Amino acid sequence: MSNIKWNAGNPGCAPDFAIASARREEFGAAMKIVRTGDELRNTLVESMQPDSRRVLVPTMGALHAGHMELVKLARQAAGISGTVVVSIFVNPIQFDRPGDLKAYPRTLEADLAKCEAAGVDVVFAPDEGTMYFPDRSVTVTESLLSSGLCGAARPGHFDGVCTVVLKLFLLSSCHAAVFGEKDLQQLAVIRRMVRDLDVPVEIIECPTKREVDGLAMSSRNARLTAEQRADAPRIHRALMAASKEHDAAAVLATARAEIEASPLTRIDYLTLVDAETLQETTTPGHPAYLAAAVFYGEVRLIDHVEL
Ligand code: PAJ
Repeated sequence: MSNIKWNAGNPGCAPDFAIASARREEFGAAMKIVRTGDELRNTLVESMQPDSRRVLVPTMGALHAGHMELVKLARQAAGISGTVVVSIFVNPIQFDRPGDLKAYPRTLEADLAKCEAAGVDVVFAPDEGTMYFPDRSVTVTESLLSSGLCGAARPGHFDGVCTVVLKLFLLSSCHAAVFGEKDLQQLAVIRRMVRDLDVPVEIIECPTKREVDGLAMSSRNARLTAEQRADAPRIHRALMAASKEHDAAAVLATARAEIEASPLTRIDYLTLVDAETLQETTTPGHPAYLAAAVFYGEVRLIDHVEL
């Protein structure tokens, strides 16, 4: 892996880098990279300070600035002497299309360098073989919030997410975990899992980080062609324009017209949902979300606005 030199005085350093650097000097430990659940447990037991908080950031890697916002929140929540754990695992059981799993970007070296620069304490990057028994037969299912939107479009997706997230919580025995609002339904489903199963983990949410042109940052953006990438900010533009309308039909029509004005897009869903239940609604009383999933070729992008 890359050999980062800690240098708080480097003029090109982002402030977070300087914080990470100062922290390294005080606590001395280098970032640890662990590849199995047992290794993770042992590492955390060894490095645990009494009363210190352990905060997990679950990811599938291909880390971008949006993920790094989660890491910043994790550090804030853990405190300077707490432990920030980032997991990097492209979880096969949450993919409904084998092609999507295969094409998912894997950039472990670059991810490790970003984690190190951000002052992460432990990266958990397991192989698939160490996460799942070949004959595994237990799955966590959330059956209400996950029924629409991405759950309807991607059968089994949220079972895969809940199962891996619960495993990651247990393996890291974290006190808190950070998730992005960008994945609106995922966040709601995980909150529900934690509530219904009495999982003793605080869920911290992080606002969506966007590119300057408004496109929500996503690992999948790297798979867009230059032409698709230039067009993709229309999703956010469409949702923002629609959010100014006053009735459900106009909200949906405005967003659809803007997205479909491009020959490059194919709408997977464009739905108005109640913010509590995530069920479809035709009366956008507050709060509600307008949520969209849009294909550019094989690449599926999601975004939403609150109404
Ligand atoms: P992944 O897509 O890598 O996302 C990891 C976390 O980063 C999620 O909580 C997601 O909501 C957050 N995130 C992604 N893009 C963001 C952005 N632009 N702004 C803010 N946060 C952003 O979501 C998953 O992985 C997986 O389903 C996982 C939870 C790791 C389970 O496998």
